[in-house]
Amino acid sequence: MSSKLILSAKGVCKAFGLTRALIDVDIDISRGEIRGLIGENGSGKSTFSSIIGGAQKADKGTFYLKEKPYKPTSMVDAQNQGISMIIQEMGNISKISVASNIFAGRLEQFSRFGFLDWKKINREANRVLEDIGAPEIKAEMIIDELNFEDRKIVEVARAMLSDPDILIIDETTTALAQKGRGIIYNLIQRLHKSNKAVLFISHDLDELMEVCNTITVLRDGVVIDTLKENEMSVDVMRKLMIGRESSGSYYRPDYDGRCSDQVVLEAKQISLRSYFKNINIALRKGEILGFGGLSGCGMHEIGRVLFGIDKPITGTVTLLQKDRKIPIRDTSVAVANHMAYVSKDRDKEAIILNASIKNNITLPSLPRLSKKAGLITKKSETELADAQIKLLSIKCRNGNQLVKELSGGNKQKVVFSKWLGKESDVLILDCPTRGIDIGVKEDMYQLMMKLKARGKSIIMISEELTELLGMSDRILIFKDGKLSKEFMRSEDLGEKNIIEYMI
Ligand SMILES: Nc1ncnc2c1ncn2[C@@H]1O[C@H](COP(=O)(O)OP(=O)(O)OP(=O)(O)O)[C@@H](O)[C@H]1O
Ligand SMILES: [Mg+2]
Repeated sequence: MSSKLILSAKGVCKAFGLTRALIDVDIDISRGEIRGLIGENGSGKSTFSSIIGGAQKADKGTFYLKEKPYKPTSMVDAQNQGISMIIQEMGNISKISVASNIFAGRLEQFSRFGFLDWKKINREANRVLEDIGAPEIKAEMIIDELNFEDRKIVEVARAMLSDPDILIIDETTTALAQKGRGIIYNLIQRLHKSNKAVLFISHDLDELMEVCNTITVLRDGVVIDTLKENEMSVDVMRKLMIGRESSGSYYRPDYDGRCSDQVVLEAKQISLRSYFKNINIALRKGEILGFGGLSGCGMHEIGRVLFGIDKPITGTVTLLQKDRKIPIRDTSVAVANHMAYVSKDRDKEAIILNASIKNNITLPSLPRLSKKAGLITKKSETELADAQIKLLSIKCRNGNQLVKELSGGNKQKVVFSKWLGKESDVLILDCPTRGIDIGVKEDMYQLMMKLKARGKSIIMISEELTELLGMSDRILIFKDGKLSKEFMRSEDLGEKNIIEYMI
């Protein structure tokens, strides 16, 4: 074995019941290498990385780490042996401090005579947070006080704690805005320079090409190819992932941003603590309204207020239907009046992991299903679920499979279909395509176009400028809790025009 090799995995197999998630996978990683791992939702990326990262065991396969046999028994054990992992789902423990999260499973080292030295623990935690470039997150904070992005950064800190030989980053950057991505890119460069290695999973092909030296493509649990830098292109990767040629651009082709004057949702002078102040928004019938901005600009929080999850300190949110004005005071009013909300933080708010796909999809639609038939028939439930599974090509055995068994992207599709099945009129989508493979992304954009054509109105909150430009009739840019600029859809509008109003 060459001494440059840091990790060697051979003949790795893993099945979950009838699902063969990995079939004879061979992956070797060298020192200094930044290896990308790509594939459609459900192709086996997280399964492979979680085996390497000690979170689960392979059915078969041999593993060498730094030329020694490697068989981690847990994530902490893997970390002690040199492999750290930032997992795809939110990996924090609720209700405890940032420091406790960072040292979870490894607190004994601070124990003396049965007491934990919290001063030292907090000092160490702050040191790591500072070291990775997030000094504003403090050790003593309770994890639940942090926003989505900062919680993810705490996981990064935990992964970096032990100075890993290999860092696994599973679909993390797309969950992060600019600040968090910057932190991760810096760490990747640091590891590369110090002859360590990175296994990097992402659905953003441009990002992958920028970051990685080599990219391995998985399809249905099988390694299809490993590309070197000079072999990488978006078209080649796409083709290898899906096994056939696909069309180039997937955004909407028209530049006609006109839509009806009829306002369907109106927010007047809404403010929420330090997040945003005196915001006015009017969403029109058949409009795709994009919200953009840097992390901390307040746009995610505005989405939550519009759906009634958080109550604004000042101002009102009103749904306007024909001759009715409905104040959105809480989510039950929103749901009852055909509003939908897809959360960025899908595990926490949007989905019941321990229920079946079918139950998750049909839950918000039960009133409609029961109205139609007088009672909810098993058949109507199954039909609705099956139609959605087909529409979004959710990779599963059938509608009865539990959502927790699905891959990350397929969970996201369940969230989406839950609201689509309900025939909502106003949809608030917070980062709807996060973690979704390009094939399905294309389907989602098509779907948004279809909804628009049927007079549905959509607010799309997004951290991807290309997506905002590609899909929105109108874009609102937020900065420091204020509306900084409005753009109408236009062929001449580019990322450059927008960025200047974000920073
Ligand atoms: N605990 C489990 N029980 C049953 N099936 C599982 C389990 N974990 C994963 N699978 C299945 O294994 C396959 C591979 O899943 P995996 O999570 O590795 O995909 P992925 O490539 O990471 O996808 P994504 O891009 O959506 O995150 C999928 O079909 C998934 O449903
Ligand atoms: Mg995954």
